Amino acid sequence: MTRRLLITGGSGALGRRVVARAAAAGWDPIGTFVARPAPTATVRLDIRDPAQIRRVLAEVRPDAIVHTASGRDRNDWAATADGAAHLAVAAAGIRLVHVSSDAIFSGRDVHYDETALPDPVYRYGAAKAAAETAVRAVDPAAAIVRTSLILGDGNGAHEILTRDLIAGRAAGALFTDEIRTPVHVDDLADALLELAAGDYAGVLNVAGADPVSRYDLGVLVARREHLDVAAIPAGSLAALGLHRPTDVRLVLDRAKQVLRVRLRGAHEFLAG
Ligand SMILES: NC(=O)c1ccc[n+]([C@@H]2O[C@H](COP(=O)([O-])OP(=O)(O)OC[C@H]3O[C@@H](n4cnc5c(N)ncnc54)[C@H](OP(=O)(O)O)[C@@H]3O)[C@@H](O)[C@H]2O)c1
Repeated sequence: MTRRLLITGGSGALGRRVVARAAAAGWDPIGTFVARPAPTATVRLDIRDPAQIRRVLAEVRPDAIVHTASGRDRNDWAATADGAAHLAVAAAGIRLVHVSSDAIFSGRDVHYDETALPDPVYRYGAAKAAAETAVRAVDPAAAIVRTSLILGDGNGAHEILTRDLIAGRAAGALFTDEIRTPVHVDDLADALLELAAGDYAGVLNVAGADPVSRYDLGVLVARREHLDVAAIPAGSLAALGLHRPTDVRLVLDRAKQVLRVRLRGAHEFLAG
């Protein structure tokens, strides 16, 4: 029998790929939106409202939930932190896969495995860390997936920013000393679907295999799209004295043991 999967944030960059790939993994997917309905997001759900969450869960009766939604405004604590807590409480007894972020780390320790404790340097990272704590406390059986920059299908925020910087539509720069482990959106989506069907409990890093600076990632995007690499403005956090996470690399040893999906590195998935 096909099992029903609720995907919060089905209108978002990640959520819509989870919805799109769910049927092939044996799920009947239902995606949610809050402001922008989409073919992949047909049910309205504002996770800041616990009563609305209860109502949607009673109507949809999902066998599992993949929680990709978070506030579009990076200061939206009520959606990103409180919303995750409300969802975990309402979803008691339902398999829950929660999407977290490498933004919970400062970059001081560089290599972060699943035992690493959050040391966020900005509010979005703090909200994602608070969400993890709430989900773990309410539902110790939930999977909490820490991930990194998400891109690869052309719709990732970093892909859009790179194009905009090259075309002069956006001001700013890509930093050579801001390092992440970017993941292909479809690899991440497949990992989330795999985890929704399993019983992995606790934190799992799911990111790409290659550590890459935001500048070098922009170069890979530009080369794939035959854009002018020389037009990418380069910058450095250190030179500008910016207080942002620096070198954050998610360690993937456990993911390699736990998951069937192969997590490609940016050099592989952005080649050609
Ligand atoms: N993008 C990255 O590089 C990255 C990196 C690490 C971790 N993450 C995490 O990955 C997840 C997905 O990110 P994304 O880039 O796909 O996000 P996104 O494109 O900004 O989409 C956000 C989604 O959340 C929904 N949403 C916003 N406020 C809501 C609320 N109050 N109630 C219910 N839904 C709400 C949005 O609905 P509407 O479309 O209707 O507004 C949208 O579907 C997030 O948890 C994010 O923290 C992302």
